[in-house]
Parts: sequence; C-alpha cells; structure tokens
Amino acid sequence: MMTPSIVTADLICSVSMPKMETRAHFIAFLKFVHGLMRASGPLLELAVERSSGALREYYKAHLAEEKDHADWLAEDMELLSEAPSQIDHAAAATAGAQYYYLRHVGPHALLGYMAAMEFRPMSLADVESLETLYGAPAIRTLRYHATHDPEHAKELARVIDEHAKFADIICYSAFVTTRMLAFYLDERMRHA
Ligand SMILES: [Fe+2]
Ligand SMILES: [Fe+2]
Repeated sequence: MMTPSIVTADLICSVSMPKMETRAHFIAFLKFVHGLMRASGPLLELAVERSSGALREYYKAHLAEEKDHADWLAEDMELLSEAPSQIDHAAAATAGAQYYYLRHVGPHALLGYMAAMEFRPMSLADVESLETLYGAPAIRTLRYHATHDPEHAKELARVIDEHAKFADIICYSAFVTTRMLAFYLDERMRHA
C-alpha cells in the first residue's frame, strides 16, 4: 500500500538536484543550507505553538534536536574563510512559505517541508569526498546530518503516516519545497 510517507518520498526523489562540482558550488550550497537551518528552530517553535497532542510532542522533540545547528554550520564555514549571507532571498522564499502555512493553514505542511530536508540525506560517500577536499572539521555539520537524518527520516515517516488525513498538504509541501531547493541551488551554482 502507498502510505502518505511513501508518496512523499517518491515525490521528493522525482526531483533531480544539481551536482556540486566546484568549491564555489559548495560554498553556494553551504550558504543556502545555512539560510534554511537558521529558520529550523523558529519554524518548529511556531509549529509547537500551533499544534496539539502527539504532533506537538513531535515538534517539541525535534526543536531540541535542531538547536544550534545553524551556529555549527557558521563555525564550519569560518574554517573555510566563509560566512553566512546576511540576507538569503532563496532561503526566505523556501522556509518563509512554511511560516505562511503555520499561520494561515495549519501545522501539517511543515511535516512535508521536514521530509524535503530529511528524506534524502547526503550520502556518507559524498561526506567523505567533501572531507578529503575541505578537511573533516569543516564538514562536521554535514556529517552529523548525514549520520542522523536517516533515523530522523524514519521517525518523520511514522508521524506523516499518523496524519494521513492531511496527506495532500504534506505531499504538496514536500514537493514544492524540493522543487524550490533544486531551483534555487541550480540558480546559485550557475552564478557561483
Ligand atoms: Fe539539523
Ligand atoms: Fe535531522
């Protein structure tokens, strides 16, 4: 049976992501990811405020998990003599849509957004290649996510399936978020 989490994963995997081929591509990627990570805590705080019951407990637990990740990434970037962007319009558009859903629609779209972030983690082989190129300390945050997100993805899939009534909005949010990630990454890399 196609559960909502399987449909969500299929939609996410149907979108191809641009390849990182140069240092400039990698830095553009890190800046975009930092822009997104900066919003993880505040989005989850809002989600805790707007939800109830088991969903609220899930968001609360994940909020504790996401703590400081943007700061870690900024520290990693410093090792590469880079800094996060002051304003990241692509991150504002991608993460910003979720503030709208949380305020004006409901607390379920964020599950799709989280799936877009966690259902397709960077492979450990890719992490190792990056470590070889840039040194392991600069890849700390990426390694942490590549290691832990497969477990987070399993838990998230369970939560999505428990909210099958909201499958449409969860799937849509996951798909649109993934399309935005691919579009903006491609745009950033082409201008890097
Ligand atoms: Fe994280
Ligand atoms: Fe995660």
